[in-house]
Amino acid sequence: MKVFQVQGQWDFEHLQVAERPEPVAGTGQIRLAMRAAALNYRDLLVPLKGYGSRMQDLPLVVLSDGVGVVDQIGPGVAAGLGVAQSQRWCPMLFQGWQGGAPDAQKLSRGLGCETDGTAAEWLLTDPLSAAPVPDYLTDAEAACLPTAGVTAWRALVTDGNVRPGDVVLVQGSGGVALFALQFAKLLGARVIALTSSKAKADRLRELGADEVLNYRETPEWGRPVKALATGWTGRDGVDHVVELGGGDTLAQSLRAVRAGGTVSLIGVLGGNRVDLPLGLVVTRAVRLQGVTVGSRDDFLAMCSAMARVQMRPVVDSVYPFEALHEAMAHLKSGQHFGKVCLSV
Ligand SMILES: NC(=O)c1ccc[n+]([C@@H]2O[C@H](COP(=O)([O-])OP(=O)(O)OC[C@H]3O[C@@H](n4cnc5c(N)ncnc54)[C@H](OP(=O)(O)O)[C@@H]3O)[C@@H](O)[C@H]2O)c1
Repeated sequence: MKVFQVQGQWDFEHLQVAERPEPVAGTGQIRLAMRAAALNYRDLLVPLKGYGSRMQDLPLVVLSDGVGVVDQIGPGVAAGLGVAQSQRWCPMLFQGWQGGAPDAQKLSRGLGCETDGTAAEWLLTDPLSAAPVPDYLTDAEAACLPTAGVTAWRALVTDGNVRPGDVVLVQGSGGVALFALQFAKLLGARVIALTSSKAKADRLRELGADEVLNYRETPEWGRPVKALATGWTGRDGVDHVVELGGGDTLAQSLRAVRAGGTVSLIGVLGGNRVDLPLGLVVTRAVRLQGVTVGSRDDFLAMCSAMARVQMRPVVDSVYPFEALHEAMAHLKSGQHFGKVCLSV
């Protein structure tokens, strides 16, 4: 089968199409004939060994997101798990995290990092490390769900407990941010979105953002965001921040969030070191909640909420399998709005 793998050496030049033997579903396994994959920011770090010594030795098949059709069911797969030939299933990013709180074991097998990923014609998994996807979604839309979708869902719902009338701040217009915007609106929250682009600001409004600020024109956006939220709710800031910028943004987020509010620490697009006014966290009892994707239960809950309103992930573009490098360059450019996908 055809795969895209890093081979021989950790760098982008050694990320290449290669041939591997066609896998066969063993005991307890299902085989997915992959239809589409989706890129995440992390996939730009993987070829450079960005996740360090925990990563699988080379060769490593890249990408963590994808969807495929069940075309083999191995012996011993229990009928009660609901797997049938020809259904579309997504493998979960963390193979083996079925539900509950994360622990080291549940976070130990991440696709496209600790173990081979989704940029392949076939993928073997087990039914409790994968889940069926709603029929109304296209292959590219379904491929976006396991990482960006589940991360936003876990931040706002499982960990965040966002309620109608809350104010949620989302940063940028990438994959996680747009899922978070859509979920926040689904939950009845108001959304303030940040972006660096005028054209993207219009699209964020079309998607439901109640206010949009340009973080390049207003780099000190913490106080204006706080004032906006306070004007709406009477509380002293936003209830929830979906923190994606990290080093560049966390200090502003702490100015924007209300006392007792939550900052979901998800991304470090602007660096992973930061000089912080910790007093703002302590004296205002702010909750800093680290989020690392989520479980199969999160995925199932998210899909059922999406299906009720036929919510569609925002797909920016779909590249052919062989054009993975071009797809990555597009993601790296920051020109995208939503998810960059790959057909398999
Ligand atoms: N913890 C987890 O489980 C988890 C899961 C998924 C992703 N992540 C992390 O979350 C981050 C976002 O991932 P993604 O895949 O959604 O990325 P992405 O699709 O590549 O999103 C990039 C977008 O973020 C915006 N951005 C960049 N720097 C910013 C800043 N300083 N302030 C505000 N917005 C900024 C830009 O939007 P504009 O063009 O609109 O300015 C940019 O286009 C990454 O750090 C990724 O590693 C973490």
